[in-house]
Amino acid sequence: MKTSMDSNRVIIFDTTLRDGEQSPGASMNLDEKVRIALVLEEMGVDVIEAGFPISSQGDFEAVQAVARTVRNAAVCGLARAAKADIDRCAEALRPAERKRIHTFLSTSPLHMKFKLQMEPEAVHQAVIDSVTHARRLCDDVEWSAEDGSRTEHDFLCRCVESAIKAGARTINIPDTVGYAVPDEYAALIRMLIERVPNIDQAILSVHCHNDLGLAVANSLAAVRVGARQVECTINGLGERAGNAAMEEIVMALRTRHDRMPFTTGIKTESIMKASHLVSTVTGFVVQPNKAIVGANAFAHESGIHQDGVLKNAQTYEIMTPESVGLKRSKLVLGKLSGRAAFKAKLKEMGYELGDNAIADAFKRFKDLADRKREVYDEDIVALVDDEMMRASDVVRFLGLEVHCGSKAPPQAILELEMEGRTLSATASGDGPVDATFNAIKKLFPHEAKLQLYQVSAVTEGTDAQAEVTVRLEENGKTVNGQGADTDTLVASAKAYVNALNKLLVKRERRAPAALSA
Ligand code: KIV
Ligand code: ZN
Repeated sequence: MKTSMDSNRVIIFDTTLRDGEQSPGASMNLDEKVRIALVLEEMGVDVIEAGFPISSQGDFEAVQAVARTVRNAAVCGLARAAKADIDRCAEALRPAERKRIHTFLSTSPLHMKFKLQMEPEAVHQAVIDSVTHARRLCDDVEWSAEDGSRTEHDFLCRCVESAIKAGARTINIPDTVGYAVPDEYAALIRMLIERVPNIDQAILSVHCHNDLGLAVANSLAAVRVGARQVECTINGLGERAGNAAMEEIVMALRTRHDRMPFTTGIKTESIMKASHLVSTVTGFVVQPNKAIVGANAFAHESGIHQDGVLKNAQTYEIMTPESVGLKRSKLVLGKLSGRAAFKAKLKEMGYELGDNAIADAFKRFKDLADRKREVYDEDIVALVDDEMMRASDVVRFLGLEVHCGSKAPPQAILELEMEGRTLSATASGDGPVDATFNAIKKLFPHEAKLQLYQVSAVTEGTDAQAEVTVRLEENGKTVNGQGADTDTLVASAKAYVNALNKLLVKRERRAPAALSA
């Protein structure tokens, strides 16, 4: 990889599906991971870390499914420094066109003593053994020194040199706990370049966590002194405070090319699409003032700013909204738009759907246009995402009628399709949402706990579609369900039912006990 590449080209290694998913509550199912992987591939990500195959059967299958689907990006799986981990990882990656095994071991005194309870010599030998074994199964091996930023320099140099000798092509130095500051982290990378004799045989990679809000700054500082792979996630998703946000890294390199003359293969116009998808799937709302992808990132509220932007956008905009794929909200289609116009719109927005999916989406679009006078780009995104989210649901939402207000207790009458049968239930509750969820519980008894109920509006105005996320937890496993509709209660019911479907898959049962009885 290194020899054929421009020396200023930075490899983008996306770990949204692995480190991102380690964020509590951010679980994704197999279909969602494949969808995200396809968007990452389309946007030009070089390496997609799809999961940690030995960690669960679900992760194994997801890595395998991504390996089967993705063709241009390399697909990577994570493995600890153990033969069984590496074998399982290689097995999951077997269908991939381009594959990478990423194996890691802690090297800091703290981690070796308390976490691994291993002597440095044993750690060093394990590095050699694990990389050697991985190289027998895969040409492209990455080795990470976990807690690398808190590792003694002499020992780090020794492990890095041995990992390269054993066949690692990429050496990753994680700031696992987000402790480093930019000049210190850059000095660490420079130190490795100066002291490790065979460093020119590997790409140096950085992987920064955001505990002090410095993940992006640390990553960029490392690139400026010679790192040529950045590990990052969409929306900065990840353990604790998250990982370096891909959109921030890529747009900083693009916007400040004068100071950082490095390139990536990312089509930045796909950033908003990826951000929205990851946010919808995980239920992690992007904060409005988040750099690049926040709702306010390109909004100008003060009169002085608005005036300046109207005269010349560069007065207050250092990047164009279009460069990150943000289109000014515009009316796209109306009630009278035909199928051809709708299909063309989907294509323009980057959705390649099959004929059946287009027919379903068109039906839903007509339905939406009947209820909502103005249909915007964002409505189409929500509509298509909603359709895709529930494509494999076995329990389906059919209809809902809710009576509520200040005069009588709320009552919900709900219809679901379960195993081909239409079932209905009526329930009351402490409010219309509670009544709706109680009706679902009557038809689909379960003990799952509601961890999150979140509503956001897709566009402005009181006729906007609501996007609802419901997070449920059962036996330590969490799932996120999504639903969108102009009626918030319908969107809520759809999201709850979608979450229950995902729980069913997690339980590896096709139907709830109540049904099969
Ligand atoms: O943060 C970290 O150290 C990691 C490694 C497994 C690369 O995620
Ligand atoms: Zn990490």
